[in-house]
Amino acid sequence: MTGMFPATRLRRTRASAWSRALHRETVLTPADLIWPLFVTEGAGVEEPIGSLPGVSRWSVDLVARRAKEAAALGIPCIALFPNTQPERRTEDGREALNPDNLMCRAIRAIKQACGDDIGVLTDVALDPYTSHGQDGLIDAAGYVLNDATAQVLVGQSLNQAAAGADVIAPSDMMDGRIAVIRDALEEAGHVNVQIMAYAAKYASAFYGPFRDAVGSSGLLKGDKKTYQMDPANADEALREVAMDIAEGADSVMVKPGLPYLDIVRRVKDAFEVPVFAYQVSGEYAMIEHAAAAGAGDRDALVLETLLAFKRAGCSGILTYHAAHAARLLGA
Ligand code: PBG
Repeated sequence: MTGMFPATRLRRTRASAWSRALHRETVLTPADLIWPLFVTEGAGVEEPIGSLPGVSRWSVDLVARRAKEAAALGIPCIALFPNTQPERRTEDGREALNPDNLMCRAIRAIKQACGDDIGVLTDVALDPYTSHGQDGLIDAAGYVLNDATAQVLVGQSLNQAAAGADVIAPSDMMDGRIAVIRDALEEAGHVNVQIMAYAAKYASAFYGPFRDAVGSSGLLKGDKKTYQMDPANADEALREVAMDIAEGADSVMVKPGLPYLDIVRRVKDAFEVPVFAYQVSGEYAMIEHAAAAGAGDRDALVLETLLAFKRAGCSGILTYHAAHAARLLGA
């Protein structure tokens, strides 16, 4: 390839705005964005989250309003995360199975307000419901039990699907859970409920503010390294993705986002399936703090990072900046 074109051709194509527009390889639109929203109890309640400047938890009525806003901005999907009341958190996380839990009430309110104008993606994992903050059931030593947890996740998925969830997104990283969840959804008649698998989810230091947002950070002892991936591994991510696709996932996710764009690209090239990335809470906070400290222009940082996900091969991005970015994109 090198030497095929005179070097000046690249400069020439960049010299004017119309030409840059013509040669642009990647575009970012509001339709590429999924907006994560945190839900809390009460009515008319907005609780700002200290470690996520500009992000709040919303009560069910207000989260439905945010969803309407998202649809109007051209954002195709929102992702829900509940901040369960402390007294409803137990060792076995059974609140995840309650048809009237905060998550299910939020799903119903949003579907009532928006119908099919927006997709509702729901996180499947036990961490917002356990008294120990882990994503699954634990043994006496605190070890997270894969197979026993997968069975509870089936119940949690059916519970969310029955409330109206459009996309089930298991973020727990138990082996084999996609297969059992898919089977159960089919059997229950939820044949068009999609599964977006958090397939390559790393045991990352970037999740801190999220754990504050769902109220699990104070409860969690230790880490999640026995089930989430080692940041040193890339081939293993391909094996995780292969498993989840074989088990029936409709799309896969890589998480966190920017530090793992190499994984996004390898997954896209190897499997040619829809790949999503989660620009997680710590990444969001870094951009906000950097901009507040004068290290860069906030809007430009937001749009550049989101565009980078598209360039790396993402079909879409989960980002706390979704509504702001959609506005910047002139929706
Ligand atoms: C929990 C879950 C986490 C995130 C999404 N789902 C945190 C974790 O695994 O501890 C992180 C999202 C973020 O940091 O924005 N299963």
